[in-house]
Amino acid sequence: MEYRDKSILVVDDERAIREVVSDYLEDIGCRPDKAADGVEALEKIVNGSYDAVIMDLNMPGMTGLDVLDKVVLRFPEMPIIVFSGVGVLDRAVEAIRKGAWDFISKPITSFSVLDLTLNRAFERSRLLRENRIYREHLEDEVRKKTEQVLEMSRSLITTQKEIILRLGDVVETRSHETAYHVHRVSEYAYLLSILCGINEKDAADIKIASAMHDVGKIGTPDGILNKPGKLTGDEFEIIKQHTVTGYTIFRTSELPVLKLAAEIALNHHEQWCGAGYPNAISGESIPLAARITALADVFDAVTHARIYKSAWKIEDACNFITGQSQVMFDPALVDLFMKNFSMFREIHDRLPD
Ligand SMILES: [Fe+2]
Ligand SMILES: [Fe+2]
Repeated sequence: MEYRDKSILVVDDERAIREVVSDYLEDIGCRPDKAADGVEALEKIVNGSYDAVIMDLNMPGMTGLDVLDKVVLRFPEMPIIVFSGVGVLDRAVEAIRKGAWDFISKPITSFSVLDLTLNRAFERSRLLRENRIYREHLEDEVRKKTEQVLEMSRSLITTQKEIILRLGDVVETRSHETAYHVHRVSEYAYLLSILCGINEKDAADIKIASAMHDVGKIGTPDGILNKPGKLTGDEFEIIKQHTVTGYTIFRTSELPVLKLAAEIALNHHEQWCGAGYPNAISGESIPLAARITALADVFDAVTHARIYKSAWKIEDACNFITGQSQVMFDPALVDLFMKNFSMFREIHDRLPD
């Protein structure tokens, strides 16, 4: 029989039944244990590890139903079989409802019923266990695969960011702008986005996309890009083209972050008052990400030396930014920038040239 060598607790307040049933179980190779009442049974079940419990329902003090209440949820895989007296089938039904697996009528006239019931219970127990193991294994596999996919997408995003930042670097290097300009603009733009209430994911996109605001400068001739003196009107017209060139580079991309980069590249020289380029749009018709980048870009440009100028003092830069509220910049952004200036200052100090 399948259930040989199983440890089975026999619970009955009638000594004779306890003895007969456990003797029989011992005879067929099981390891029976005995409990004389509900309290003893509960203690043994909680502290032991039985393969099954056979339990009388009608016991003084703690009844079989009470024990069921306490153990069914804790040991869902342990078969509990109850004895029910003749004519009290409703108690057996209640026990099944409470989580007992099966019932055997008393008096026990033949052990073959007990055998059959135990066999059925152990078969079901085995299936339950296998099912659980399979489910756990499956959950484990799903968890592992999810982690792998996440890891892949994380590394893809890191790679993307790295390439994009490098691309920004290339342009800045070519135009001899300061080493960390792109990084600082990104950081300022991200911080300003968060302060605006933009969600973390979109702010992270702005952080990456803003790094490419000047990518269109790869189309600007060296002579103009690196001219130390003042630009002529024609030369300035050529410089202005970097906005449209940047836009053209990214415009057709399917990646949202590159679409955003296109938008920023096109609009980062637009001004709130409408005096900017290339389209001289104004106010909120300028995309927010571009308004954010414009402020970040100018603040960084004035606080660091360029080929044609030296760095301004922080106070002068702040006065300039404040003075350009509603002129170059979105007044709401200038407000946020000034109110939280210590945080921008921290980035400024952390990433020197
Ligand atoms: Fe620019
Ligand atoms: Fe810039």
